Amino acid sequence: MNLIKKVVNEGSTTQKPIWLMRQAGRYLPEFRKIRKENSDFIKLCLNEILVPEITLQPLKRFNIDAAIIFSDILMLPYGIGQEVEFKKNFGPILGELENVNFSSTDENEFTEKLLPVYRSIKKVSHSLISQNKSLIGFVGAPWTILVYMLNKQSPKKELNSKLENLKENKRLIQVIIKYLKIHIKNQIKNGADIIQIFDSWAGLVNKKDVGDLIYKPNAELVEFIKSLNIPVICFPRETKNYVEFINEVNPSVISLDYNVDIKRIVKEIKIPTQGNLDPKILLSDVNNIKKNTLAILDNFKDHPHIFNLGHGVLPQTDPNMIEYLVKLVKDY
Ligand code: CP3
Repeated sequence: MNLIKKVVNEGSTTQKPIWLMRQAGRYLPEFRKIRKENSDFIKLCLNEILVPEITLQPLKRFNIDAAIIFSDILMLPYGIGQEVEFKKNFGPILGELENVNFSSTDENEFTEKLLPVYRSIKKVSHSLISQNKSLIGFVGAPWTILVYMLNKQSPKKELNSKLENLKENKRLIQVIIKYLKIHIKNQIKNGADIIQIFDSWAGLVNKKDVGDLIYKPNAELVEFIKSLNIPVICFPRETKNYVEFINEVNPSVISLDYNVDIKRIVKEIKIPTQGNLDPKILLSDVNNIKKNTLAILDNFKDHPHIFNLGHGVLPQTDPNMIEYLVKLVKDY
C-alpha cells in the first residue's frame, strides 16, 4: 500500500507522505519550456502527449508520493461551453455566461469535450502502477467554480454584484454539481485514486451563507466520491471555521491553508490533515525552511498527516528548495 493510502485509510502516523499543490508548473524550467511552445493553456490541458509528461515532471525530480493530474479547475466551465482563456500575467478570462447553453449541455457532449483529460489520466495511472504512488484527480468546488463563471476573472477580494443573489447562486450551484459529478466519475474511472476539491474562494463567503454555498455543496460531492469508494481531500481555503467545515462536510482529509492555527486544530479534529507550509517560506533560506517544516512535522507527530503547502508552489520558487524540503520530510 502506498504512503498516502496508509495515512488516509489506516490513520498511520509513522511516516509523513508529501506532495505539493501546483507541483507541476512554472517554477520548473522543463515546464516553462513546454509552456513557451504552447501558448494556448486550454489546448495544452487537452494534449494527451504533454499532459502525462508535465504531470510526471516533478516525480522525476523529487521523491514525492503522488502525482496530481496537470489540468485546471476551469476545464469544467470549458466543458459546459463557456469560453475560457488564460492571459499572460493576468490569469483566466471567461466568456459571457449568457451565451452558454448551460443546463442543457448533454452529459455525453461534456465527457466528449474533456475526453483528452481522461485519456491522460489513464496514461499516467498506468505509468504509476509500478511506482506505488497515488494519482490525485481534482475539481473546483461548486462555489469557487461559480465565482469564476460569474465574475469571469479571479476576484479581487470583493465580489461581483451578480454573486449577491443567493437564490440564483443556489440554483446555479446545483447545475454545476451535476457536471462536477460527471467530471469526478470520469477521472476515477480512468485511474484517479484520490480526489481533491479546491474551494479556493471559500473565504469570501460570509457566515450567513456558508451553509448554502460552502458546506452543503462540498458535502454533496464528498458523499458522492465516498460512495465510489475513493477518498476525498477538501481544501476550503481561508474558510472561517475549519472545525465546523469538517463536522458539516465530513471529508476523508482536510487540507489546511497557511493561516490555520495548527496547534489548536490538531487538538480539535480527528481526521487526517494535509498542509500547511506557507509557499513564501520556500522563497527564503534553508534554515528558515527547516525551522518552519519541522514545526509542522512536530505538530502532527502523532496525527495522520500528508505534508503539503498551504497553497500552491509560487512560480519564483527555486526547485532546489523543493528538493531540500522533500528530503527534510522524508528524513524526519
Ligand atoms: O497542482 C498541480 O500541479 C496540478 C495542476 C493545477 C493547475 N491549476 C495548473 C495551472 C491545479 C490543481 C490547478 C487548480 C486551480 N486552477 C485552482 C485551485 C487552486 C488554487 O490555486 O487556489 C484555481 C483557483 C485555478 C484557476 C487558475 N488557473 C488561475 C487563477 C490561474 C492563473 C493564475 C496562476 O496561478 O497561474 C490558472 C492557471 C494555471 N493553472 C497555471 C497552471 C500551471 C499557470 C498557467 C501558465 O503557465 O500561465
